[in-house]
Amino acid sequence: MEPSTPPRKAQPEKLSGVRGMNDVLPADEPLWRRLEEAVAGAMRAYGYRRIRTPIVEHTRLFVRSIGEVTDIVEKEMYSFTDALNGEDLTLRPENTAGVVRASIEHNLLYDGPKRLWYAGPMFRHERPQKGRYRQFHQVGAEALGLAGPDADAEVILLCQRLWDELGLPGVRLEINSLGASDERRAHRAALVEYFEARRDALDADAQRRLHSNPLRILDSKNPAMQALIEGAPRLVDFLGEASRAHFERLQALLRSQNLPFRINPRLVRGLDYYNLTVFEWIADIGGTPLTICGGGRYDPLVEMLGGKPAPACGFAMGVERVLEHMRAQGGEAAPAQCEVYVVHQGDETLEAALQAAERLRDAGLEVILHCGGGGFKAQFRRADASGARLAVIVGGDELARRAASVKWLRAGEGEAARQESVPLERLAEFIADALVA
Ligand code: HAM
Repeated sequence: MEPSTPPRKAQPEKLSGVRGMNDVLPADEPLWRRLEEAVAGAMRAYGYRRIRTPIVEHTRLFVRSIGEVTDIVEKEMYSFTDALNGEDLTLRPENTAGVVRASIEHNLLYDGPKRLWYAGPMFRHERPQKGRYRQFHQVGAEALGLAGPDADAEVILLCQRLWDELGLPGVRLEINSLGASDERRAHRAALVEYFEARRDALDADAQRRLHSNPLRILDSKNPAMQALIEGAPRLVDFLGEASRAHFERLQALLRSQNLPFRINPRLVRGLDYYNLTVFEWIADIGGTPLTICGGGRYDPLVEMLGGKPAPACGFAMGVERVLEHMRAQGGEAAPAQCEVYVVHQGDETLEAALQAAERLRDAGLEVILHCGGGGFKAQFRRADASGARLAVIVGGDELARRAASVKWLRAGEGEAARQESVPLERLAEFIADALVA
């Protein structure tokens, strides 16, 4: 008889995450936390209060606010129909619309202006590449009910404070003014006329946008179109007195705070709700200039979404891009998993070791208790890898004396092999002192 080979067990398929949507692994956590703490501090310093809105909103909220003829609404939204009630919903591609919707719904502006901030994931179906993801995170601030260039200047200063706090050099500020809607209309008419006269030189995207959203043609990255765009009518030349005064006052305020900026007349932003001031912060990340933060004034939006007219301005920064810039500055040591690693030997020492670890945690220390047995040598290897500064050894000998040994794992000169026996009841106090030293 032929010996039969046992059937091969089928390996379950290994699942991977969705393209463009990343895991944030524990090794990255210290950098994220540094950013989050700096953000929370900066927001407090300017009187902003946090708001948390849902990740899913009605699709029409984004169509109405961001604009029908924008990249985001035309091709980047994760939209779906709720199978249970037929509602058209979308994973938020940004959060200005959600914050304004919530402010109107809860009548937040009833007693005056509000300064609000948020942080969280956003979703855009873009082609993933460095600094461009399908799930990414934004931190944003929205000043609602404030009309003047003073508010614009303040949100810009808030950003600068954050770059300083995070030790990010060379983040450049570009500003522009989009004026008022009638000024944009006049400019738009001139633009259409200009591009129509040169229709043959337009690429397919520009041809499509010529009548729906000609302003966005100015945003084209196509090298073949740059000379044409350079010669196009400029919006600044269409600004009326009030828009011009607003823009000039903002510039004077920024100068008064020694905040350098460049006026970029081609800065139009990719969302339709803006008027007057728009701005972007640009950093060179790995040799490529990337916009790490963008914002501006959006006075018409509150009314467009059904609220009582109220002016507003704000910004959002791309967290992954800011983190990338922070990483490029270097200096981040691998973080420790704990301060103290407790090793022990044998069943009877486990209970005492558990007890000792609990008392250390009571004292506010970060402690890993070795789990899974093994010899002292293997346990010390783990202790070392954990990054802990001290190991606590609970062995049979120590236990007989109601004591534990404390061993310095990565102390400086002369302390490398230091080990001391400490009575269990004094352990927490001893270690807290040793860690401060
Ligand atoms: P935004 O320019 O669309 O503006 O996005 C703000 C920032 O989010 C960008 O400058 C960029 O750093 C980051 N970002 C955008 N898309 C991605 C992506 N696919 N991957 C990684 N990062 C990305 C807004 O969202 C407006 N809501 C800003 C605002 C607030 N205006 C007034 N208030």
